[in-house]
Amino acid sequence: MNSTDLLPNRPLKVAVLGASGAVGEELLSLLEERNFPIQELRLLASPRSAGQIKTFKGKEIEVIQVSDKSFDGIDLVLASAGGDVSRRWREVIYSHGAVMIDNSSAFRLEPNVPLVVPEVNPQALCNHHKLISNPNCTTILLTLALAPLAKCLPIRRVIVSTYQSASGAGARAMQELQDLSKDVLDGLTPTSKILPYSLAFNLFLHNSPLNSSKYCEEEMKMINETRKIMALPNLSLTATCVRVPVLRAHSEAVNIEFSEPFPSAKASKVLSNAPGIELIEDVQNNRFPMPTDVAGRDLIALGRIRNDLSNPNALELWLCGDQIRKGAALNALQIAEMLLPS
Ligand SMILES: NC(=O)c1ccc[n+]([C@@H]2O[C@H](COP(=O)([O-])OP(=O)(O)OC[C@H]3O[C@@H](n4cnc5c(N)ncnc54)[C@H](OP(=O)(O)O)[C@@H]3O)[C@@H](O)[C@H]2O)c1
Repeated sequence: MNSTDLLPNRPLKVAVLGASGAVGEELLSLLEERNFPIQELRLLASPRSAGQIKTFKGKEIEVIQVSDKSFDGIDLVLASAGGDVSRRWREVIYSHGAVMIDNSSAFRLEPNVPLVVPEVNPQALCNHHKLISNPNCTTILLTLALAPLAKCLPIRRVIVSTYQSASGAGARAMQELQDLSKDVLDGLTPTSKILPYSLAFNLFLHNSPLNSSKYCEEEMKMINETRKIMALPNLSLTATCVRVPVLRAHSEAVNIEFSEPFPSAKASKVLSNAPGIELIEDVQNNRFPMPTDVAGRDLIALGRIRNDLSNPNALELWLCGDQIRKGAALNALQIAEMLLPS
């Protein structure tokens, strides 16, 4: 990486835009846990959360409403306040000379914006233009599994079904799942306000807008972003995304077709040595990854790796990953760490 691509060689002035949200909260704890070099931390949100107090390294910091002045002197902005907010502040952040690592989908497919999973395509960070996008959460988890296999054999097609937790829709959706689950247990009719339907003891197809082919936005993100991250613009991939009543951590059932047979034992070996992955493959006890295995953890868990009985060239596998952590905050911070001078 060129030295001009790197952050300054001193403790940084960092702003978290969306500091009161699910991803923002996780960013705060990871910045502390990973001892990221910080001189000043600015916590930004909307008027709804302005005035909230967060604790960082034992010090209390007030959340303030984002404004034109919020980015004065800032070196790095970690943005997790949604696409509209990122679009609103992009030029202001740029004009202050700060690097922006953005968790929203606003800029992910722009040709000059790197879309990075550090274990998969770190080279994409070279020559960034101070704006780097963090991929969609389900896509990050998927590419961690696909990339090491794609190094062994060309991938022909991927079919994925997701089981996405409430936390993927933010902090208020997590609270709603807890509240509505209590309502159901108390014999009341659950009425949702954050998600379109009650998730309590229920599931529904991802409610992002549909295109003319009846694919929802989340499914199209998986298709387009996987192609960009893996530099496989013609990869055949289809996805069905489902919201399930899990509080935290997403799961995915993945079918991967290769150019020729890929023995499952070899795939297990490759994946067990791949970065960011642990295998939970206890065949004797019929015990494979569950969301509770990965909640709050950095690694994603993979298991039930088997050859597809219906297609000699395909593998089936199951994965779970904490999408607030590796699917968002941790991935963003790993990108920031790669931009630190060594
Ligand atoms: N949750 C996940 O698993 C996940 C994974 C990957 C990517 N992402 C992406 O990360 C972003 C945040 O997601 P989240 O789950 O953390 O959402 P969230 O829990 O709803 O948090 C949203 C944050 O954005 C702030 N915000 C909203 N409107 C704002 C405005 N007009 N000006 C300034 N701040 C504003 C909120 O502040 P207030 O408290 O003041 O409203 C809050 O801090 C989204 O783009 C999402 O797609 C989320």
